Amino acid sequence: MAKSESELRSEISRLVKELYTVRFPSDSFVPGATAIRYAGRIFDEKEMQALVDSSLDFWLTAGRYSEIFESELADRFGLEYAFLVNSGSSANLIAFSALTSPLLPEVKRLHSGDEVISVAAGFPTTLNPIIQHGMVPVFVDVEVGTYNINPEKLKKAIGPKTKAIFLAHTLGNPYNLDVVMELVRKYDLWLIEDCCDALGSTYNGKMVGTFGHIATCSFYPAHHITMGEGGAVLTDDDLLARAIRSIRDWGRDCYCAGGENNTCGKRFSGQYGTLPKGYDHKYVYSHIGYNLKVTDMQAAIGVEQLKKLDDFIKRRKENFSLWMKGFRQWEDIFVLPYAIDGADPAWFAFPVTVKEGGGFSRTELTNFLAQHRIETRNLFGGNLLRQPAYLNIQKRMAGSLEETDRIMNNTFFLGTYPGLTEEKIAYSFKVIQNFLEIKR
Ligand SMILES: Cc1ncc(COP(=O)(O)O)c(C=O)c1O
Repeated sequence: MAKSESELRSEISRLVKELYTVRFPSDSFVPGATAIRYAGRIFDEKEMQALVDSSLDFWLTAGRYSEIFESELADRFGLEYAFLVNSGSSANLIAFSALTSPLLPEVKRLHSGDEVISVAAGFPTTLNPIIQHGMVPVFVDVEVGTYNINPEKLKKAIGPKTKAIFLAHTLGNPYNLDVVMELVRKYDLWLIEDCCDALGSTYNGKMVGTFGHIATCSFYPAHHITMGEGGAVLTDDDLLARAIRSIRDWGRDCYCAGGENNTCGKRFSGQYGTLPKGYDHKYVYSHIGYNLKVTDMQAAIGVEQLKKLDDFIKRRKENFSLWMKGFRQWEDIFVLPYAIDGADPAWFAFPVTVKEGGGFSRTELTNFLAQHRIETRNLFGGNLLRQPAYLNIQKRMAGSLEETDRIMNNTFFLGTYPGLTEEKIAYSFKVIQNFLEIKR
């Protein structure tokens, strides 16, 4: 007798589990030979089984797994809406674009020429949407140690044209949300929290991403959870949610799920723009949108990853503490990272700044570490304003960017991801000790 679909699926699932153990045997660490990565995907057979299960549906575009993921992510944040998108950069683009939505009252809507508070010591795609929409980024310096915007300088940076604040919680370290929220309320500003590196970080016991109007996440492999390529936009606001969905889905007004028709019950009876009455709502466009959706196969991986998030966060915090314990002996040479009162970071990384006059440069150290197969990264683009793409952008400078330049020259980070072990970190310390002995 022919096997049923469910019997075949279970057989495939069992084989995938078997394949996982063959394809990804647990690795033993060989000091100096095994690469000590700064980040990487952590998964087991469950993610592979979910991926294959969704591929067997052959639905391909966003579907049942996307719905589960969106609902569980929204619950995790305690927010009403989560929209799955194909990257953190897309999430930032949509989040910003939503603030220009015609659904918003004219006075609240962003227009070209409006100013948005930003930093240059960050990831480019937090900044890019501001420029892409013809707004003016206002650059404020950051602090070495927290790597976040300097709150006192932020207070002075607000001007009559300032309409929004768009900042990432750098490397998972929450910025001063007391100051930021005070300014948001006082000047009636929008706040987008880029939480791409900060999933699970809290401030005064509340998840970051729940303070502002919109939060964004990334699920690229380096991040707290992954689906390969992926991201999310979250909000509690009904109007912003409509705009976000529309901008993600080609700009369409219709909010039917894939494969559904007439969810609104007015598919052929509405009046939109100057279209003829009853024009098919499926092809009515209320925003200048994109298509930034994911496939359900990515979402299936995400559903399994989300179950592991608490453990991932715990292990990131433990690895951060191990780095901190070892680095404490060298506080005369390095500026060590810290979180402000009330902040509890789910650290993306362990940032270190080489102090001036220590007898060696950041690059000498990171090069030495690379030779010993220990990966590091610079704090993204350093000072983005010195990057070729940004030399001629329209901007306002709210003071000098001295600390940003210091970060560009002297800062690097080590990983905290759960793939690191005490053994790997202990070996890294031996290599650093060795480097310092050569240099001092
Ligand atoms: C702060 C921040 N925002 C946005 C992004 C972009 O995310 P993605 O790589 O998923 O586009 C990153 C990427 O690492 C990031 O670090």
